[in-house]
Amino acid sequence: MPTESAKPPTETPAWQSLVAHATRVGAVHLRELAASRTLAPQDLSLRFGPLFVSYARQRLADRTMQLLLHLCEERNLHGRIGGLLAGDAVNVTEGRAALHTTLRKPYGTEGQPAGVTSEVHSERRRMLDFASALAAGRVSGGGKSIDTIVNIGIGGSDLGPRLATDALYEKRRPGLRVEFVSNLDGQALFKCLAGLDPARTLFIVASKSFTTVETLTNAVSARRWLEQHGCNDAPAQFAAVTANVAAAVEFGIRPDRIFRLWDWVGGRYSIWSSVGLPVAASLGETAFLEFLRGAHRVDEHFSSAPLHENLPVLLGLIDLWNGAFLGTPTSAIIPYDQRLQLLPAYLSQLIMESNGKSVDSHGRPVQTPTSPIIWGGVGTDAQHAFFQLLHQGTHTVPVEFLIAAHPRHDASHHRRLLAACMAQGQALMQGSTYAAQPHRSTHGNQPSTTIIYPDLTPEVLGMLLALYEHRTFVYAALLDINAFDQWGVELGKETAREIVRGMEQGTPAHEDAITRQLLDHCLPFPPDLHKYP
Ligand code: F6P
Repeated sequence: MPTESAKPPTETPAWQSLVAHATRVGAVHLRELAASRTLAPQDLSLRFGPLFVSYARQRLADRTMQLLLHLCEERNLHGRIGGLLAGDAVNVTEGRAALHTTLRKPYGTEGQPAGVTSEVHSERRRMLDFASALAAGRVSGGGKSIDTIVNIGIGGSDLGPRLATDALYEKRRPGLRVEFVSNLDGQALFKCLAGLDPARTLFIVASKSFTTVETLTNAVSARRWLEQHGCNDAPAQFAAVTANVAAAVEFGIRPDRIFRLWDWVGGRYSIWSSVGLPVAASLGETAFLEFLRGAHRVDEHFSSAPLHENLPVLLGLIDLWNGAFLGTPTSAIIPYDQRLQLLPAYLSQLIMESNGKSVDSHGRPVQTPTSPIIWGGVGTDAQHAFFQLLHQGTHTVPVEFLIAAHPRHDASHHRRLLAACMAQGQALMQGSTYAAQPHRSTHGNQPSTTIIYPDLTPEVLGMLLALYEHRTFVYAALLDINAFDQWGVELGKETAREIVRGMEQGTPAHEDAITRQLLDHCLPFPPDLHKYP
């Protein structure tokens, strides 16, 4: 007889009650649901520090949250959160912990497992010292001080630092330019290098594994570019962030310029580590520590707040309610904040790479949809692009709005921006009816959540990202899937390696007939197509 927590969640009484509840609630228009429930908007919102979150436009009847919290009890969510934070081997397929919360522990605190936090702190110190030296112009490259850093990395080694430096651009220190190159397509590196002074450029090779083909190919080309421009001490112009120190040394990076990662941090959870080097160099140590402090604040809340007042838990439950019970396959992230334009891309990795799974932690096929498809774009641009589908299309799409209440910016713009954001939430829920003109009617009935913060500070950004990490964990924990592996990406990588080997050695790559035909259409190409500025 399986124990309660080993049982698939769909077999629990709480799950069955939620299924029945969803059938009833799912049939009612959101407008009528909101009018009929006794809960007021203030009962369906939560304030935590600078964050104010309203989920009153979600499809929640009076009893829904109670039933979802009952599922948390049956699935021992509290214990699972404790296990994550205490360093249990929650990544069961790789037999290791997911200790990203340790990465943001303030100096002076210890944690579990013993020893890890002090190692994290000393590596952070090294990274921050190097970041300060870079920002102060105290690091020299080809005989001149470095004024540009180029982060070469992909996925979690790119999206986080790219987002944070973009979002917090107001804090960027003058005198240090920060660029990012991720794609294998040589056009990306070419475009980035054009206009840079080779003697004043430093490359950060960020790769947990130090085996990622995109990153290594770009790093080798960057080194060649330096050499072609007479920068003969290339190692002086590289740094690395990696868990594979030996491979970085072998690449030629000086050990004192290698900042360490650990196997217990997944790429998509690594912005808090030395992967944040470009952020710390660009924004400064104080801002970087504030960013960590924001995330740590959410960790403490996640660990100690009762489940019914626990923001990541409540938002994770709403995500699960939409995805698994109401069957909405996608979710749109719409920041009405230009500074968060890269948030949808960041969250699509965080959420989909974590929860895009089809077997549970015991290897059994799941009985319910897992991660929603995450997409989105910045408001108001998105209104003039795809919002038509939200208003009149045939899909239900939960939307998440994010907006600053008091940004230090032009009020004439912000007033209109705020109005646009509020109007969309209301219109998407209420809809409109033009009896004689059905083509003008909008169905409404689209659920949404609105997250408001006073302004986008490093602390707020840290809080937001940690909030998304933890609600992703809540979703996974309740479905009993492993949020911390990503085996699905391996087949494509292996197949590409085979095909390249086939191209280089002229041997068959076991490709299928369709691939063969497509390749034959492209091959042969001239051996050296690339050319760097
Ligand atoms: O292919 C997926 C992935 O492994 C991501 O999980 C990761 O963020 C990215 O590739 C980059 O990996 P690395 O940091 O090892 O180069």
